[in-house]
Amino acid sequence: MDANELLIFNKGNELVHQNFIPKLDIKSEKIEEILPKNLIRDELRIPDVSEVEIVRHYIKLSKINYGVDSGIYPLGSCTMKYNPKINEIVARMTSFSKVHPLQDENEGALEILYEISQMLGEITGMDGFTLQPAAGAHGELVGLLIIKKFFETRGIVKNKIIIPDSAHGTNPASAKMAGFSIIELQSNKYGEVPLDHLEYALEQGDVAGIMLTNPNTLGVFDRQIKDITRIVHEHGGLCYYDGANLNPMLGICRPKDMGFDIVHLNLHKTFSTPHGGGGPGSGPVGVTNELIPFLPIPCILSTDKGLVCDYENHESIGRIKAFWGNFSIILRAYVYILSLGGNGLKRVGQIAVLNANYLKTLLKKKYHLPYDRICQHEFVLSDKYLPNDITTEDIAKRILDYGFYAPTIYFPLVVNGALMVEPTETESKDSLDKFVEVMNQIRDEALNEPEKLKKAPLNTPVGRLDAVNAARKPILHD
Ligand SMILES: Cc1ncc(COP(=O)(O)O)c(C=O)c1O
Repeated sequence: MDANELLIFNKGNELVHQNFIPKLDIKSEKIEEILPKNLIRDELRIPDVSEVEIVRHYIKLSKINYGVDSGIYPLGSCTMKYNPKINEIVARMTSFSKVHPLQDENEGALEILYEISQMLGEITGMDGFTLQPAAGAHGELVGLLIIKKFFETRGIVKNKIIIPDSAHGTNPASAKMAGFSIIELQSNKYGEVPLDHLEYALEQGDVAGIMLTNPNTLGVFDRQIKDITRIVHEHGGLCYYDGANLNPMLGICRPKDMGFDIVHLNLHKTFSTPHGGGGPGSGPVGVTNELIPFLPIPCILSTDKGLVCDYENHESIGRIKAFWGNFSIILRAYVYILSLGGNGLKRVGQIAVLNANYLKTLLKKKYHLPYDRICQHEFVLSDKYLPNDITTEDIAKRILDYGFYAPTIYFPLVVNGALMVEPTETESKDSLDKFVEVMNQIRDEALNEPEKLKKAPLNTPVGRLDAVNAARKPILHD
Protein backbone atom coordinates (compact mmCIF):
# COMPACT_ATOMS: atom_id res chain seq x y z
CA MET A 1 0.00 0.00 0.00
CA ASP A 2 1.24 3.49 -0.80
CA ALA A 3 -0.01 6.39 1.26
CA ASN A 4 1.81 8.85 -0.99
CA GLU A 5 -0.79 8.59 -3.70
CA LEU A 6 -1.03 11.93 -5.52
CA LEU A 7 -4.25 13.88 -5.35
CA ILE A 8 -6.35 13.41 -8.48
CA PHE A 9 -5.75 17.11 -9.24
CA ASN A 10 -2.03 16.49 -9.41
CA LYS A 11 -2.40 13.66 -11.89
CA GLY A 12 -2.57 13.56 -15.66
CA ASN A 13 -1.01 15.84 -18.29
CA GLU A 14 -1.09 19.59 -18.47
CA LEU A 15 -4.58 20.86 -17.83
CA VAL A 16 -5.57 20.93 -21.49
CA HIS A 17 -8.59 18.62 -21.21
CA GLN A 18 -7.77 16.98 -24.49
CA ASN A 19 -8.62 13.51 -23.29
CA PHE A 20 -12.25 13.80 -22.51
CA ILE A 21 -13.82 16.93 -23.98
CA PRO A 22 -15.22 16.11 -27.43
CA LYS A 23 -14.89 18.59 -30.27
CA LEU A 24 -17.66 21.16 -30.41
CA ASP A 25 -20.28 20.23 -33.01
CA ILE A 26 -22.88 22.91 -32.27
CA LYS A 27 -22.91 26.65 -32.79
CA SER A 28 -20.62 28.27 -30.22
CA GLU A 29 -21.81 31.09 -27.99
CA LYS A 30 -19.81 33.66 -26.05
CA ILE A 31 -19.93 32.70 -22.37
CA GLU A 32 -19.90 36.38 -21.30
CA GLU A 33 -23.19 36.84 -23.15
CA ILE A 34 -24.84 34.02 -21.25
CA LEU A 35 -23.51 34.27 -17.70
CA PRO A 36 -22.91 37.26 -15.41
CA LYS A 37 -19.25 38.16 -15.03
CA ASN A 38 -19.02 37.15 -11.37
CA LEU A 39 -19.91 33.57 -12.25
CA ILE A 40 -17.18 33.17 -14.86
CA ARG A 41 -13.84 31.61 -13.94
CA ASP A 42 -10.59 32.14 -15.85
CA GLU A 43 -9.38 28.66 -15.16
CA LEU A 44 -11.10 25.30 -14.69
CA ARG A 45 -8.99 22.90 -12.66
CA ILE A 46 -10.09 19.54 -13.98
CA PRO A 47 -7.36 16.92 -14.14
CA ASP A 48 -6.70 15.53 -17.59
CA VAL A 49 -7.05 11.85 -16.76
CA SER A 50 -8.74 9.00 -18.55
CA GLU A 51 -11.59 6.92 -17.16
CA VAL A 52 -9.34 4.00 -16.27
CA GLU A 53 -6.95 6.31 -14.43
CA ILE A 54 -9.82 7.70 -12.39
CA VAL A 55 -11.12 4.23 -11.55
CA ARG A 56 -7.66 3.01 -10.51
CA HIS A 57 -7.05 6.12 -8.43
CA TYR A 58 -10.19 5.68 -6.36
CA ILE A 59 -9.87 1.90 -6.07
CA LYS A 60 -6.33 2.42 -4.75
CA LEU A 61 -7.59 4.93 -2.18
CA SER A 62 -10.42 2.62 -1.13
CA LYS A 63 -7.89 -0.13 -0.44
CA ILE A 64 -5.91 2.09 1.90
CA ASN A 65 -9.09 2.72 3.86
CA TYR A 66 -10.50 0.36 6.48
CA GLY A 67 -14.19 -0.11 7.22
CA VAL A 68 -16.71 -2.59 8.56
CA ASP A 69 -16.75 -4.22 5.15
CA SER A 70 -13.00 -4.95 5.53
CA GLY A 71 -13.02 -6.67 8.92
CA ILE A 72 -13.74 -6.48 12.64
CA TYR A 73 -14.09 -2.89 13.88
CA PRO A 74 -14.17 -3.22 17.68
CA LEU A 75 -14.33 0.53 18.33
CA GLY A 76 -15.99 0.70 21.75
CA SER A 77 -18.92 3.10 22.13
CA CYS A 78 -19.43 3.24 18.35
CA THR A 79 -21.31 -0.03 17.65
CA MET A 80 -19.58 -0.49 14.31
CA LYS A 81 -21.76 -3.32 13.09
CA TYR A 82 -22.02 -4.50 9.50
CA ASN A 83 -24.57 -2.54 7.46
CA PRO A 84 -26.71 -4.90 5.37
CA LYS A 85 -26.66 -3.89 1.71
CA ILE A 86 -30.45 -3.99 1.46
CA ASN A 87 -30.48 -0.74 3.47
CA GLU A 88 -28.26 0.89 0.87
CA ILE A 89 -30.27 -0.43 -2.06
CA VAL A 90 -33.50 1.01 -0.68
CA ALA A 91 -31.89 4.33 0.31
CA ARG A 92 -30.66 4.74 -3.26
CA MET A 93 -34.03 4.06 -4.92
CA THR A 94 -34.90 7.22 -6.81
CA SER A 95 -38.37 7.28 -5.23
CA PHE A 96 -36.53 8.05 -1.98
CA SER A 97 -33.27 9.66 -3.01
CA LYS A 98 -34.97 12.22 -5.27
CA VAL A 99 -37.80 13.14 -2.94
CA HIS A 100 -37.75 16.72 -1.65
CA PRO A 101 -39.49 17.94 1.51
CA LEU A 102 -40.93 20.96 -0.32
CA GLN A 103 -42.64 19.00 -3.08
CA ASP A 104 -46.43 18.69 -2.94
CA GLU A 105 -46.72 14.93 -2.73
CA ASN A 106 -44.74 13.55 0.17
CA GLU A 107 -47.12 11.03 1.65
CA GLY A 108 -44.85 8.03 1.18
CA ALA A 109 -41.99 9.71 2.98
CA LEU A 110 -44.27 10.97 5.74
CA GLU A 111 -45.65 7.47 6.17
CA ILE A 112 -42.16 6.10 6.67
CA LEU A 113 -41.35 8.78 9.22
CA TYR A 114 -44.60 8.14 11.04
CA GLU A 115 -44.16 4.37 11.00
CA ILE A 116 -40.58 4.41 12.26
CA SER A 117 -41.67 6.72 15.09
CA GLN A 118 -44.23 4.08 16.03
CA MET A 119 -41.61 1.32 15.82
CA LEU A 120 -39.15 3.23 17.99
CA GLY A 121 -42.02 3.80 20.41
CA GLU A 122 -42.62 0.06 20.58
CA ILE A 123 -38.90 -0.66 21.04
CA THR A 124 -38.36 1.91 23.82
CA GLY A 125 -41.87 2.12 25.32
CA MET A 126 -41.97 5.88 24.72
CA ASP A 127 -45.19 7.63 23.66
CA GLY A 128 -43.92 10.19 21.15
CA PHE A 129 -40.80 10.72 19.05
CA THR A 130 -39.07 13.43 17.10
CA LEU A 131 -36.79 12.31 14.31
CA GLN A 132 -35.20 15.69 13.72
CA PRO A 133 -31.93 15.48 15.69
CA ALA A 134 -28.99 14.82 13.38
CA ALA A 135 -26.82 12.94 15.88
CA GLY A 136 -26.82 11.48 19.37
CA ALA A 137 -25.42 14.63 20.96
CA HIS A 138 -28.00 16.71 19.07
CA GLY A 139 -30.69 14.45 20.55
CA GLU A 140 -29.25 15.05 24.01
CA LEU A 141 -29.50 18.79 23.51
CA VAL A 142 -33.12 18.44 22.42
CA GLY A 143 -33.94 16.24 25.43
CA LEU A 144 -32.34 18.70 27.82
CA LEU A 145 -34.13 21.67 26.24
CA ILE A 146 -37.38 19.74 26.75
CA ILE A 147 -36.52 19.23 30.43
CA LYS A 148 -35.77 22.94 30.74
CA LYS A 149 -39.02 23.99 29.08
CA PHE A 150 -41.02 21.51 31.16
CA PHE A 151 -39.92 23.21 34.37
CA GLU A 152 -40.06 26.74 32.94
CA THR A 153 -43.70 26.34 31.91
CA ARG A 154 -44.44 25.38 35.52
CA GLY A 155 -42.58 28.41 36.82
CA ILE A 156 -39.96 26.23 38.50
CA VAL A 157 -36.26 27.04 38.35
CA LYS A 158 -34.05 23.96 38.18
CA ASN A 159 -30.68 24.37 36.57
CA LYS A 160 -28.58 21.40 37.64
CA ILE A 161 -28.30 17.96 36.08
CA ILE A 162 -26.76 14.89 37.68
CA ILE A 163 -24.44 12.93 35.39
CA PRO A 164 -22.47 9.86 36.53
CA ASP A 165 -18.76 9.75 35.61
CA SER A 166 -19.45 6.64 33.49
CA ALA A 167 -21.65 8.64 31.09
CA HIS A 168 -20.72 9.30 27.51
CA GLY A 169 -18.62 12.45 27.17
CA THR A 170 -21.27 14.23 25.13
CA ASN A 171 -23.70 14.17 28.09
CA PRO A 172 -22.04 16.89 30.18
CA ALA A 173 -21.24 18.89 27.04
CA SER A 174 -24.90 18.86 25.94
CA ALA A 175 -26.10 19.71 29.45
CA LYS A 176 -23.77 22.69 29.53
CA MET A 177 -24.98 23.84 26.10
CA ALA A 178 -28.58 23.66 27.33
CA GLY A 179 -27.63 25.97 30.20
CA PHE A 180 -27.41 23.44 33.05
CA SER A 181 -24.58 23.07 35.51
CA ILE A 182 -23.42 19.54 36.15
CA ILE A 183 -23.21 17.48 39.32
CA GLU A 184 -20.87 14.60 38.58
CA LEU A 185 -21.50 11.35 40.44
CA GLN A 186 -18.61 8.99 41.00
CA SER A 187 -19.47 5.37 40.15
CA ASN A 188 -18.98 2.66 42.75
CA LYS A 189 -16.66 -0.33 42.38
CA TYR A 190 -19.25 -2.14 40.24
CA GLY A 191 -19.37 0.77 37.79
CA GLU A 192 -22.88 1.70 39.00
CA VAL A 193 -24.52 4.78 40.53
CA PRO A 194 -24.27 4.78 44.36
CA LEU A 195 -27.83 5.45 45.54
CA ASP A 196 -26.78 7.30 48.72
CA HIS A 197 -24.64 9.71 46.66
CA LEU A 198 -27.55 10.17 44.27
CA GLU A 199 -29.89 11.10 47.11
CA TYR A 200 -27.31 13.46 48.57
CA ALA A 201 -26.90 15.22 45.19
CA LEU A 202 -30.68 15.55 44.77
CA GLU A 203 -30.99 17.10 48.20
CA GLN A 204 -28.73 20.00 47.12
CA GLY A 205 -31.79 21.55 45.40
CA ASP A 206 -32.46 22.97 41.92
CA VAL A 207 -31.80 19.57 40.34
CA ALA A 208 -33.76 19.09 37.11
CA GLY A 209 -32.95 15.41 36.86
CA ILE A 210 -30.44 12.77 35.89
CA MET A 211 -28.84 11.85 32.57
CA LEU A 212 -27.94 8.20 32.59
CA THR A 213 -26.02 6.34 29.91
CA ASN A 214 -27.18 2.76 30.17
CA PRO A 215 -25.50 0.38 29.59
CA ASN A 216 -22.81 2.87 30.53
CA THR A 217 -19.42 3.40 28.96
CA LEU A 218 -18.01 0.52 31.02
CA GLY A 219 -20.49 -1.76 29.28
CA VAL A 220 -22.29 -2.14 32.61
CA PHE A 221 -26.07 -2.29 33.06
CA ASP A 222 -27.00 -0.50 36.27
CA ARG A 223 -28.89 -3.15 38.27
CA GLN A 224 -30.54 -0.54 40.48
CA ILE A 225 -31.93 1.39 37.57
CA LYS A 226 -35.53 1.32 38.79
CA ASP A 227 -34.43 2.66 42.18
CA ILE A 228 -32.52 5.43 40.44
CA THR A 229 -35.56 6.65 38.49
CA ARG A 230 -37.82 6.27 41.53
CA ILE A 231 -35.50 8.35 43.72
CA VAL A 232 -35.09 11.08 41.09
CA HIS A 233 -38.86 11.28 40.59
CA GLU A 234 -39.45 11.41 44.34
CA HIS A 235 -37.24 14.51 44.38
CA GLY A 236 -39.24 16.13 41.56
CA GLY A 237 -36.66 15.49 38.82
CA LEU A 238 -36.93 14.01 35.34
CA CYS A 239 -34.96 11.02 34.09
CA TYR A 240 -33.08 11.18 30.79
CA TYR A 241 -31.88 7.94 29.24
CA ASP A 242 -28.89 8.09 26.88
CA GLY A 243 -30.02 5.20 24.69
CA ALA A 244 -27.15 5.32 22.22
CA ASN A 245 -26.08 1.96 23.65
CA LEU A 246 -29.47 0.34 23.09
CA ASN A 247 -27.99 -2.49 21.00
CA PRO A 248 -27.71 -5.11 23.79
CA MET A 249 -31.17 -4.35 25.12
CA LEU A 250 -33.17 -4.63 21.93
CA GLY A 251 -36.31 -6.65 22.58
CA ILE A 252 -35.21 -7.37 26.18
CA CYS A 253 -36.06 -4.25 28.17
CA ARG A 254 -37.29 -0.72 27.53
CA PRO A 255 -36.30 2.68 28.95
CA LYS A 256 -39.89 3.70 29.71
CA ASP A 257 -40.47 0.51 31.70
CA MET A 258 -37.37 1.40 33.74
CA GLY A 259 -39.02 4.71 34.63
CA PHE A 260 -37.40 7.12 32.17
CA ASP A 261 -39.13 10.19 30.79
CA ILE A 262 -36.88 10.92 27.81
CA VAL A 263 -34.59 8.82 25.67
CA HIS A 264 -32.43 9.46 22.66
CA LEU A 265 -31.26 6.73 20.31
CA ASN A 266 -28.41 6.65 17.86
CA LEU A 267 -29.91 5.16 14.71
CA HIS A 268 -26.39 5.23 13.26
CA LYS A 269 -25.23 2.80 15.93
CA THR A 270 -28.05 0.47 16.92
CA PHE A 271 -29.96 0.39 13.67
CA SER A 272 -27.09 -0.20 11.32
CA THR A 273 -26.16 2.69 9.18
CA PRO A 274 -22.70 3.61 7.96
CA HIS A 275 -21.09 6.12 10.26
CA GLY A 276 -17.78 7.26 11.56
CA GLY A 277 -15.84 10.19 10.26
CA GLY A 278 -18.43 12.52 11.66
CA GLY A 279 -21.73 11.55 10.15
CA PRO A 280 -24.34 11.75 8.86
CA GLY A 281 -26.31 10.40 11.78
CA SER A 282 -29.72 10.46 13.37
CA GLY A 283 -30.53 10.85 17.07
CA PRO A 284 -34.33 10.58 17.53
CA VAL A 285 -35.72 11.60 20.91
CA GLY A 286 -38.61 9.77 22.54
CA VAL A 287 -40.69 11.10 25.42
CA THR A 288 -43.58 10.11 27.67
CA ASN A 289 -47.08 11.54 27.09
CA GLU A 290 -46.47 14.31 29.60
CA LEU A 291 -43.60 15.70 27.53
CA ILE A 292 -45.08 15.34 24.02
CA PRO A 293 -46.21 19.00 23.96
CA PHE A 294 -42.55 20.07 24.16
CA LEU A 295 -41.31 18.07 21.17
CA PRO A 296 -39.84 20.03 18.25
CA ILE A 297 -42.23 21.08 15.48
CA PRO A 298 -43.49 19.97 13.08
CA CYS A 299 -44.90 16.67 14.39
CA ILE A 300 -46.63 14.15 12.16
CA LEU A 301 -50.14 13.33 13.34
CA SER A 302 -52.36 10.53 12.14
CA THR A 303 -55.87 11.92 11.53
CA ASP A 304 -59.08 10.84 9.76
CA LYS A 305 -57.76 12.72 6.74
CA GLY A 306 -54.45 10.83 6.79
CA LEU A 307 -51.09 12.03 8.01
CA VAL A 308 -50.77 15.74 8.65
CA CYS A 309 -47.90 17.95 9.76
CA ASP A 310 -48.68 19.80 12.97
CA TYR A 311 -46.99 23.19 13.48
CA GLU A 312 -49.32 24.31 16.28
CA ASN A 313 -47.59 22.81 19.27
CA HIS A 314 -47.34 26.02 21.33
CA GLU A 315 -45.20 24.58 24.11
CA SER A 316 -42.72 23.11 21.64
CA ILE A 317 -39.05 23.93 22.05
CA GLY A 318 -39.25 24.92 18.35
CA ARG A 319 -37.55 23.61 15.29
CA ILE A 320 -34.13 22.12 15.74
CA LYS A 321 -33.29 20.95 12.22
CA ALA A 322 -34.43 21.77 8.73
CA PHE A 323 -37.36 19.66 7.55
CA TRP A 324 -37.45 16.15 9.07
CA GLY A 325 -33.88 15.28 9.97
CA ASN A 326 -31.52 13.06 8.00
CA PHE A 327 -34.14 11.21 6.01
CA SER A 328 -31.84 8.72 4.28
CA ILE A 329 -30.37 7.58 7.60
CA ILE A 330 -33.86 7.20 9.08
CA LEU A 331 -34.84 5.22 5.99
CA ARG A 332 -31.91 2.82 6.41
CA ALA A 333 -32.93 2.22 10.02
CA TYR A 334 -36.54 1.63 8.89
CA VAL A 335 -35.39 -1.03 6.42
CA TYR A 336 -33.14 -2.62 9.05
CA ILE A 337 -35.97 -2.84 11.60
CA LEU A 338 -38.45 -4.19 9.06
CA SER A 339 -36.06 -6.78 7.67
CA LEU A 340 -35.16 -8.13 11.13
CA GLY A 341 -38.57 -7.91 12.78
CA GLY A 342 -39.12 -8.16 16.53
CA ASN A 343 -37.47 -11.54 17.00
CA GLY A 344 -34.54 -10.59 14.81
CA LEU A 345 -33.90 -7.43 16.83
CA LYS A 346 -33.98 -9.41 20.06
CA ARG A 347 -31.43 -11.82 18.60
CA VAL A 348 -29.20 -8.84 17.69
CA GLY A 349 -29.11 -7.80 21.33
CA GLN A 350 -28.48 -11.31 22.61
CA ILE A 351 -25.62 -12.01 20.21
CA ALA A 352 -24.04 -8.59 20.84
CA VAL A 353 -23.90 -9.45 24.55
CA LEU A 354 -22.70 -12.99 23.92
CA ASN A 355 -19.91 -11.79 21.60
CA ALA A 356 -18.73 -9.15 24.05
CA ASN A 357 -18.67 -11.60 26.97
CA TYR A 358 -16.90 -14.25 24.90
CA LEU A 359 -14.14 -11.78 23.95
CA LYS A 360 -13.90 -10.40 27.47
CA THR A 361 -13.50 -13.85 29.01
CA LEU A 362 -10.65 -14.72 26.65
CA LEU A 363 -8.88 -11.35 26.77
CA LYS A 364 -8.91 -10.98 30.54
CA LYS A 365 -6.47 -13.89 30.74
CA LYS A 366 -3.74 -11.59 29.41
CA TYR A 367 -5.06 -8.05 29.95
CA HIS A 368 -6.25 -6.23 33.04
CA LEU A 369 -10.05 -6.01 33.29
CA PRO A 370 -10.89 -3.38 35.92
CA TYR A 371 -14.64 -4.14 36.13
CA ASP A 372 -14.78 -7.91 36.12
CA ARG A 373 -18.47 -8.74 35.74
CA ILE A 374 -20.93 -9.76 33.04
CA CYS A 375 -20.84 -7.00 30.47
CA GLN A 376 -23.41 -5.89 27.93
CA HIS A 377 -22.33 -4.78 24.45
CA GLU A 378 -18.77 -3.78 25.36
CA PHE A 379 -16.09 -3.97 28.05
CA VAL A 380 -13.03 -2.00 29.07
CA LEU A 381 -9.50 -3.35 29.51
CA SER A 382 -6.55 -1.30 30.70
CA ASP A 383 -2.78 -1.16 30.27
CA LYS A 384 -2.19 -1.73 34.01
CA TYR A 385 0.36 -4.54 34.58
CA LEU A 386 1.65 -4.54 30.98
CA PRO A 387 5.42 -5.14 31.01
CA ASN A 388 8.17 -2.79 29.75
CA ASP A 389 6.07 0.38 30.09
CA ILE A 390 3.89 -0.69 27.20
CA THR A 391 0.86 1.58 26.94
CA THR A 392 -2.62 1.36 25.52
CA GLU A 393 -1.50 3.46 22.57
CA ASP A 394 1.31 0.98 21.77
CA ILE A 395 -1.18 -1.91 21.82
CA ALA A 396 -3.67 -0.07 19.62
CA LYS A 397 -1.03 0.88 17.04
CA ARG A 398 0.28 -2.68 16.90
CA ILE A 399 -3.25 -4.01 16.28
CA LEU A 400 -3.23 -2.00 13.02
CA ASP A 401 -0.13 -3.92 11.89
CA TYR A 402 -2.15 -7.12 12.07
CA GLY A 403 -4.79 -5.68 9.76
CA PHE A 404 -7.53 -4.95 12.29
CA TYR A 405 -9.09 -1.71 13.41
CA ALA A 406 -8.18 -0.81 17.01
CA PRO A 407 -10.60 -0.52 19.94
CA THR A 408 -11.37 2.92 21.40
CA ILE A 409 -8.49 4.10 23.56
CA TYR A 410 -8.22 6.28 26.67
CA PHE A 411 -12.00 6.39 27.02
CA PRO A 412 -13.92 6.15 29.32
CA LEU A 413 -11.90 8.43 31.56
CA VAL A 414 -12.87 6.46 34.69
CA VAL A 415 -10.34 3.81 33.63
CA ASN A 416 -6.69 4.82 33.29
CA GLY A 417 -5.23 3.63 29.99
CA ALA A 418 -8.63 2.34 28.83
CA LEU A 419 -8.99 0.01 25.84
CA MET A 420 -12.70 -0.20 25.10
CA VAL A 421 -13.78 -3.18 23.03
CA GLU A 422 -17.18 -3.56 21.31
CA PRO A 423 -17.29 -6.46 18.85
CA THR A 424 -21.02 -6.19 17.92
CA GLU A 425 -23.26 -9.08 16.93
CA THR A 426 -22.16 -9.14 13.30
CA GLU A 427 -18.75 -10.75 14.00
CA SER A 428 -18.51 -14.53 13.73
CA LYS A 429 -16.76 -16.72 16.30
CA ASP A 430 -13.95 -17.17 13.80
CA SER A 431 -13.46 -13.41 13.52
CA LEU A 432 -13.49 -13.01 17.33
CA ASP A 433 -10.97 -15.85 17.74
CA LYS A 434 -8.62 -14.21 15.23
CA PHE A 435 -8.82 -10.95 17.17
CA VAL A 436 -7.99 -12.77 20.42
CA GLU A 437 -5.07 -14.52 18.72
CA VAL A 438 -3.66 -11.14 17.63
CA MET A 439 -4.19 -9.60 21.07
CA ASN A 440 -2.41 -12.53 22.71
CA GLN A 441 0.46 -12.30 20.26
CA ILE A 442 0.80 -8.57 20.98
CA ARG A 443 0.83 -9.32 24.72
CA ASP A 444 3.74 -11.72 24.14
CA GLU A 445 5.54 -9.09 22.07
CA ALA A 446 5.06 -6.61 24.92
CA LEU A 447 7.15 -8.94 27.04
CA ASN A 448 9.72 -10.15 24.51
CA GLU A 449 9.95 -7.49 21.78
CA PRO A 450 8.68 -4.26 23.36
CA GLU A 451 10.54 -2.03 20.86
CA LYS A 452 8.26 -3.35 18.11
CA LEU A 453 5.23 -2.06 19.97
CA LYS A 454 6.86 1.26 20.79
CA LYS A 455 7.48 1.88 17.07
CA ALA A 456 4.19 0.46 15.80
CA PRO A 457 2.51 0.63 13.40
CA LEU A 458 5.20 -0.74 11.11
CA ASN A 459 3.11 -2.11 8.21
CA THR A 460 0.60 0.65 7.59
CA PRO A 461 0.75 3.35 4.88
CA VAL A 462 1.55 5.95 7.56
CA GLY A 463 3.66 5.18 10.64
CA ARG A 464 3.20 6.47 14.20
CA LEU A 465 2.09 10.08 14.11
CA ASP A 466 2.48 12.77 16.69
CA ALA A 467 -1.19 12.39 17.62
CA VAL A 468 -1.62 15.88 19.07
CA ASN A 469 -0.07 17.70 16.13
CA ALA A 470 -1.78 15.44 13.61
CA ALA A 471 -5.13 16.44 15.10
CA ARG A 472 -4.40 20.11 15.69
CA LYS A 473 -2.23 20.94 12.68
CA PRO A 474 -3.13 18.42 9.99
CA ILE A 475 -1.20 18.73 6.73
CA LEU A 476 -3.69 17.61 4.12
CA HIS A 477 -1.64 18.33 0.99
CA ASP A 478 1.97 18.80 -0.13
C1 LIG B 1 -23.46 6.44 24.77
C2 LIG B 1 -23.35 7.51 23.73
N1 LIG B 1 -24.02 8.66 23.89
C3 LIG B 1 -23.96 9.64 22.99
C4 LIG B 1 -23.17 9.52 21.86
C5 LIG B 1 -23.08 10.69 20.92
O1 LIG B 1 -23.57 10.36 19.65
P1 LIG B 1 -23.12 11.18 18.36
O2 LIG B 1 -21.68 10.86 18.14
O3 LIG B 1 -24.00 10.69 17.27
O4 LIG B 1 -23.33 12.63 18.65
C6 LIG B 1 -22.45 8.34 21.64
C7 LIG B 1 -21.62 8.17 20.44
O5 LIG B 1 -21.19 7.13 20.09
C8 LIG B 1 -22.54 7.32 22.60
O6 LIG B 1 -21.85 6.18 22.47
